[in-house]
Amino acid sequence: MTGLSDFEIVLTPLDEATLARLLEAAVADAEPHEVMPPLDGPPGWTPERREAFLAFHRRRSLDPDTAIETTWLIEVDGRAAGAARLQPVHGASAVEVEAGVWLGRSCRGRGIGKRVAEVLLEAARDGGAARFIASTTVDNAAARRLLSGTGADLDVHGEEVDARLEL
Ligand SMILES: CC(C)(COP(=O)(O)OP(=O)(O)OC[C@H]1O[C@@H](n2cnc3c(N)ncnc32)[C@H](O)[C@@H]1OP(=O)(O)O)[C@@H](O)C(=O)NCCC(=O)NCCS
Repeated sequence: MTGLSDFEIVLTPLDEATLARLLEAAVADAEPHEVMPPLDGPPGWTPERREAFLAFHRRRSLDPDTAIETTWLIEVDGRAAGAARLQPVHGASAVEVEAGVWLGRSCRGRGIGKRVAEVLLEAARDGGAARFIASTTVDNAAARRLLSGTGADLDVHGEEVDARLEL
């Protein structure tokens, strides 16, 4: 998938080759807590955390026996920049899809997330979804702004923010 903007933004479905590039981008340009579930142990991109990152994506996207979502490598002007995902919430033919995006630090705040969100919305509609949902936290101003910019309703409860958009 290609998004229109000043940058060339290309979303490529994850496979082993793009997963390796995604890990490189994460290690170079993001904190583990921004891009993967918490893992006990010393901070930073330890060998264990890198392996857990790979296992996380293999389980959720690549292994046909366990996959629950589609993940794309986001490339910006040919460089691996982050990941986007769409997860049907109640099974493969769900009307509701949950979206997620992360970008490396050097790519944030330049309108790229907005373009990626548009591409994800289009993919959700093309896939037959009727509702687009996403979650973030109240302290994540960029994600909240990104989500409200799609026209989604934002529901704040405690530290959590749930976004919901009828497609
Ligand atoms: C959240 C994230 C995907 C947003 O992508 P981005 O490319 O940085 O966002 P954009 O530049 O497209 O900006 C989207 C909107 O947020 C605003 N924004 C961007 N960075 C902001 C910041 N630090 N504080 C406040 N608003 C911000 C922009 O002005 C824009 O609003 P507008 O359309 O009203 O002008 C990106 O910042 C990121 O990957 N963060 C770390 C991981 C993460 O938090 N992922 C989301 C978890 S739910």
